[in-house]
Amino acid sequence: MESTALNRVAELRAAVEEHNRRYYDEAAPTITDQEYDALYRELADLEARFPALASPASPTQKVGGAPLKAFALVTHRAPMLSLDNTYSEEEVADFYRRLQRLLPDAAIPVVVEPKVDGVAVSLLYEDGRLRYAATRGDGTVGDDITQNIRTIRSVPSQLKGRPPKILEVRGEVFMNKEGFAQLNAARLEAGLPLFANPRNSAAGSLKQLDPAITAERPLGVVFYGTGAVEGAQLTKHSELFAILQELGLPATERWWMAGSVEETLNAIRELDRVRHDFAYQTDGAVVKVDAFGQREALGFTAKSPRWAIAYKYAAERVETRLHDILIQVGRTGVLTPVAALEPVTVSGSRVARATLHNEEEIQRKDIRIGDMVVIEKAGDVIPAVVGVRTELRTGAEREFRMPPNCPECGSAVQKDEGQVAIRCVNSQCPAQLRRRIEHFASRGAMDIEGLGEAMVTQLVGRGLLHDVSGIYQLNATKLATLERVGEKSIRNLLDAIRRSKTRPLWRLIFALGILHVGVSSSRALADHFRSVPKLMESSVEELQQISDVGEVVGRSIHAFFQEPLNRELIKALAASGVKMVDDTPRAEASETSPFADSSWVITGTLSEPREQIAETIIGRGGKVTGSVSKKTTYLLAGDEAGSKLEKAKKLGVRVLDEKEFRTLLES
Ligand code: IVH
Repeated sequence: MESTALNRVAELRAAVEEHNRRYYDEAAPTITDQEYDALYRELADLEARFPALASPASPTQKVGGAPLKAFALVTHRAPMLSLDNTYSEEEVADFYRRLQRLLPDAAIPVVVEPKVDGVAVSLLYEDGRLRYAATRGDGTVGDDITQNIRTIRSVPSQLKGRPPKILEVRGEVFMNKEGFAQLNAARLEAGLPLFANPRNSAAGSLKQLDPAITAERPLGVVFYGTGAVEGAQLTKHSELFAILQELGLPATERWWMAGSVEETLNAIRELDRVRHDFAYQTDGAVVKVDAFGQREALGFTAKSPRWAIAYKYAAERVETRLHDILIQVGRTGVLTPVAALEPVTVSGSRVARATLHNEEEIQRKDIRIGDMVVIEKAGDVIPAVVGVRTELRTGAEREFRMPPNCPECGSAVQKDEGQVAIRCVNSQCPAQLRRRIEHFASRGAMDIEGLGEAMVTQLVGRGLLHDVSGIYQLNATKLATLERVGEKSIRNLLDAIRRSKTRPLWRLIFALGILHVGVSSSRALADHFRSVPKLMESSVEELQQISDVGEVVGRSIHAFFQEPLNRELIKALAASGVKMVDDTPRAEASETSPFADSSWVITGTLSEPREQIAETIIGRGGKVTGSVSKKTTYLLAGDEAGSKLEKAKKLGVRVLDEKEFRTLLES
């Protein structure tokens, strides 16, 4: 019985997933809703009858198996209010002085904390279990986004410690800056419209009707307040931070106490200095009266509390000349217009190039070559042209059109159905080839020193490289035909190429440049399959079961290895002696080893690249993550360690400098 059930379950899972794909990704379902529901119900029933067959990868478990046709509504227990905003320090001072007027004869401690630029959410925990999560909506009623919130790793479904009977907790869902940049890079390559900033991309991710898509997005959450609470008595906001931590709920990492106008403004200014190091985007400071008794006495105006105010930092904008619009051809052939700017400094770094996304964007903003343009860094990460000083035009400015042909290879370009991106479809296009080779050889991938942009351009231009496997066919005779390349550089380059043959498996997987496959999925894939041939033959189903992979990524990997040219490439790489397997013994971290089951965060400047140190730690049975939490065992802090170090100290995480780390390695 059980084995026929097993087959049927596998069949049903594949069918449900396929229909999910047709419904969500292609918006072209091939069966009716009733037929879909019948398949889904049969699967859920079988899993209930044979619990041994249940799997977290089943579409019934992976939130998102059940298509949500629309969001249900949730009524907040306590309304979600908004705050008065100001851009002026003077108004913050007025705010504090008004508090003093309303509460004469009392000291009024206030908390100053970051205003997180994300999407407001409210979660209800009952007896410590997550019951539901909702958006703010109109403040009284919001959308039920429980399934989507459950995909965020830092949101506990069960609270730790001694949770109150009812806890309605409020916070902001955000997409971290790095994840945002990666998501947009992948969307650009895939020809999908880009998100304007991390806030929009977090909002877009939460609004996905299919939580499996939300699960692919690097979302996090920060909690900063409560709604309804039963079974606990809080008297001060400043107590909340520690309580949230104890319950396992991520809280604001930095906050300040202030007791005067001057202290409040100083805290706001200090926050402005450190906030760029936070993983999430912030757009201001929130000043809140600390004591709940005082809050009650102050009360509310029509729409917001009198006991809090939000101060917004002005986004740094600068003006510069747009000299030209260049076309960049990406690894997958997408043509992107790029602004060539008179170099300027924005938010601390030098900017000479800014992506203009696509032609529609350029027309919408009416950007012309020769314009004075306004530059801002979107979400502290990517420089963007946000406006044009049209009143400064002389008439000499030129309108821009995307070229009808690839500027590199001359092939006609093509616009994919329903997508904004324009693509050069010639897979032999030298620009695409150069990008693929540059990526393969880059420091984060196979790390071939000396094979940078200039060298790759020469090699491809002279017909010495036709694909990445050609790297391993290079020899001194071929390289000697290049211009301005001495004997010593040739020797060094050939050495570097030889060394790259034995890189760890995840580097090779990452180097292949599979759409959506970043460093963390590459590590997960290497860890799971331990060989490229095995990875190559894996099914979409197996791929999706790997954490850090998921549905979209799984399908992309599968498609990559179905492509005959890619299979040829792997064969050629293997034939040249590139290591295709991970044959290092599995870390048998003995229980006494300080690395066994330890979780590490690496920050600051160290004597070796962080990637390399991470490999050493992983090789000994440790884990390396990007952000400090209570679960972090050690923070390895190099020179100029910033906010991570402070956070580690605050959480009592053990901090090691490089010398101590080396001692530990030897022990
Ligand atoms: S407290 C009644 N604290 O900004 C007070 N809000 O314009 C409720 N926000 O609706 C909000 N960071 O979506 C508070 N540390 C923070 C915040 C914060 C971001 C958002 C929140 C709020 C809006 C106010």
